[in-house]
Amino acid sequence: MARVILGVSAGIAAYKSASLLRLLREAGHRVRVIPTADALRFVGEPTWAALSGEPVATDVWTAVDEVAHVRLGQSADLVIVAPATADLLARAAAGMSGDLLTATLLTARCPVVLAPAMHTEMWEHPATTANVALLRQRGALVIDPASGRLTGADTGPGRLPEPEELFAVVQALLARLMPAAASLAGRRVVISAGGTREELDPVRFLGNWSTGKQGYALARSAALRGAEVTVVAANVELPDPAGARVVRVVSARDMHAAMLAEAGIADAVVMTAAVADFRPVARSDSKIKKDGSQPDPIVLTENPDILHDLAGRRARGGRQGQVVVGFAAETDPDPQAAQAKLARKGCDLLVVNPVGNGRGFGSADNEAIVYSREGSQTPIPRGSKEALAEVVWDLVAARLQ
Ligand code: C5P
Repeated sequence: MARVILGVSAGIAAYKSASLLRLLREAGHRVRVIPTADALRFVGEPTWAALSGEPVATDVWTAVDEVAHVRLGQSADLVIVAPATADLLARAAAGMSGDLLTATLLTARCPVVLAPAMHTEMWEHPATTANVALLRQRGALVIDPASGRLTGADTGPGRLPEPEELFAVVQALLARLMPAAASLAGRRVVISAGGTREELDPVRFLGNWSTGKQGYALARSAALRGAEVTVVAANVELPDPAGARVVRVVSARDMHAAMLAEAGIADAVVMTAAVADFRPVARSDSKIKKDGSQPDPIVLTENPDILHDLAGRRARGGRQGQVVVGFAAETDPDPQAAQAKLARKGCDLLVVNPVGNGRGFGSADNEAIVYSREGSQTPIPRGSKEALAEVVWDLVAARLQ
């Protein structure tokens, strides 16, 4: 996840930047939109605020106590201005800082991408040419506008490139800037998420409180690092993680089949899902009714251990170099028991996180200790599930190398 500033100046192509914003957000980036005052004539403040989930200001007089005109530029990982009008380019080249966007361009120490869009005459005018040359000389990446249909009947160079192309430029720059961001490039990863359900009858099941948040955070993070991601999701009600393929399952046996099928060619497999250890021996085809007599006891039988079977297949000559990761939710975590469980399951890493009393399931935060097959321990302090995912992928990426 990167902190991106999306500057929008007053060109009709501002509407395309709304799509760029969506792509950036879906990729997990935090995006702050800074339009110029006139840009709001094309696309209004509510659109930018709703799509970014961040406040929107155009001048340096809003939230003065936060010193936004300095802080935003200083803390950004990347600034992209799309569209950049002739006027914006001129003001940026002259080092003016009369509004929040130009002030941010002066305070930014990160890469700055400018995507000009204007009529061909304006683009080809010597003033614009000189401004672009100066900005490039100072290190800005100015993307030549595309050729094609402009706003009126005219055609020629001046079009804003399509949002997908601008997004690709941003992603490529960020991958270079933040090496962790590309640490899974070209890798295939399979992640299980959620909690299995074991049916008693057509309306009832044995289940658990897992929501899939941690698994989905792992999926988003892996996709951001360049991996091809498949999530095997058991009863998850969250929006699909950006960039991941989702295979839906219900029971432990469904998940067992799906995971073994999907993991065959994976470089890393992460079992985040809370899998039921047991299922009812019998499932009633019709709803179990109360009839006044003592209800039948629920007789359970053991489910396959998916993690154990994945690690076992790898050990028997499965995919070379595959990294297998398990999770263990424990109410009373204990290092010796954790190391023993890791050995029993045969995985490379075991992420042990405390659950119960509001911890773990469904909460936004998590904490854990990651045990490795070699005996090392990596504590992950309390933080977001995204932050925990980053540490897990750092450890996996190090093993894949
Ligand atoms: O033994 P325990 O349930 O604590 O192990 C947790 C780990 O094993 C998790 O990664 C979970 O996804 C996995 N597991 C499994 N199949 C089961 C039970 C747990 O893959 N039947």
